[in-house]
Amino acid sequence: MAVAIQTEVAFQKCISPACAATYAIDQVLTSCPACGNLLDVTYDWDRLSPPASLKTFEEKWQRRHDPIDFSGVWRFHEMLPFAPREKVVTIGEGQTLLAASDGVGSFVGMRPGNLFLEYEGLNPSGSFKDNGMSAAFTHARMIGARRAACASTGNTSASLAVYCAVTRLMRGIIFIGSGKISYGKLSQALDYGALTIQIAGDFDDAMARVKEVSKELGIYLVNSVNPFRLEGQKTIMYRVLESLRWEVPDWIVVPGGNLGNSSAFGKAFAEMYEVGLIDRIPRLAVINAAGANTLYELYHNRGLRWKGGTADLTPACLYYDELDQKEQRANTIASAIEINRPVNLNKCLRALEVCDGVVRQVTEQEILDAKAQVGAGGLGCEPASAASVAGAKKLLSEGVIAPSDRVVCILTGHQLKDPTATVAYHTTDQKLFNEVLGSRGVSRASFANRAVSVGNRMDEIVQAIELYG
Ligand code: F0G
Repeated sequence: MAVAIQTEVAFQKCISPACAATYAIDQVLTSCPACGNLLDVTYDWDRLSPPASLKTFEEKWQRRHDPIDFSGVWRFHEMLPFAPREKVVTIGEGQTLLAASDGVGSFVGMRPGNLFLEYEGLNPSGSFKDNGMSAAFTHARMIGARRAACASTGNTSASLAVYCAVTRLMRGIIFIGSGKISYGKLSQALDYGALTIQIAGDFDDAMARVKEVSKELGIYLVNSVNPFRLEGQKTIMYRVLESLRWEVPDWIVVPGGNLGNSSAFGKAFAEMYEVGLIDRIPRLAVINAAGANTLYELYHNRGLRWKGGTADLTPACLYYDELDQKEQRANTIASAIEINRPVNLNKCLRALEVCDGVVRQVTEQEILDAKAQVGAGGLGCEPASAASVAGAKKLLSEGVIAPSDRVVCILTGHQLKDPTATVAYHTTDQKLFNEVLGSRGVSRASFANRAVSVGNRMDEIVQAIELYG
């Protein structure tokens, strides 16, 4: 594989400064062939002339009859300029909402008007993954791929499946851990017609297998090791800024699983800062579930840092060996982030450095209580997404976030993705509660909204409404 000095304005580049090998955009790579590290899509901004003001993007709304300007990803094409316009794939992703939520804000401990929820559940497949999938599909179209695969805890697979179904550009093959994804997500993959391979194992196993199989069969891999995925996910931050009238918030709080989002957000801010579109970078908080807390363990407890790209990754290798020896698998009700070997660990460490970040872990109880509050606040989300709100609450109680800060929590997935967790939290059926939640150490449902059971009789119904209504 040729390692050449790039003359193109967009190219792929190894994230390790010591290697810094570059590769052409039309190469299909998920790691650096020279050193094995992750790759970035990199731009020569001096030759690209990005917009002088973020307001330029707002003007595109007036042209939203054009699908590219309608897309919440491709409206920002100048910030991910790796593809010509005619190759862009869009199914209308990124029509999302940034909502100020005083209800959730008061639960977290914020002053009114200071907590915002970025609701990515409004994407076509119900999660933030569509931002990245439209970018990966665009690259796949550029290089003429006919089959695409991913390992998934359910949302990447739903996203891949819907892009295949709508565009008919590729056949989708998804790898999932058997019994490891919620029914909402599994039903999407089946309904959209993807070839669904259930592996006897968990996400980490599925990820290892899909990498081998894609290489063996030459299938285009759309997991977030694919650097083009993250280009699409950067746009979540552009939309957050757009909704805040281009004012940079103090904090972005995001759940951490495979660490693609946090990595993409760090890249988005680093680039905007580099080209002069912002003069300040917000702080980033990445929140693990306590049952899948590799980043927390390595960053918070074992001092792993990016250090300008000179990180010694031995602590990560030692930690993975420990996990293997103890046969410890990731385990959380937030199944979307039930991951012990996050593939974007290095990029996330870099993002934490760029954004002066922090990492926290939250318990199952904290996740579910936060999720109930998000629901009561009107948007609703799946358990993994609520980790961001639970994490913000923790950081406030520690005094790391101030009540007067402006905080944006990313709600990564729609409420209907995982009804099992929601129904079990609100149930009056002790057996169901114990089975789904009690078994995971959840002891109470402080914010439960319990259904009232009545006979099929007018007087009982009227009594119930008068008692509780
Ligand atoms: N929230 C939701 C709803 C997710 O589906 C995921 C990841 C994350 C958070 C974590 O994001 O990986 O960028 O740190 N889901 C992947 C999947 C792993 O297969 O759908 P991350």
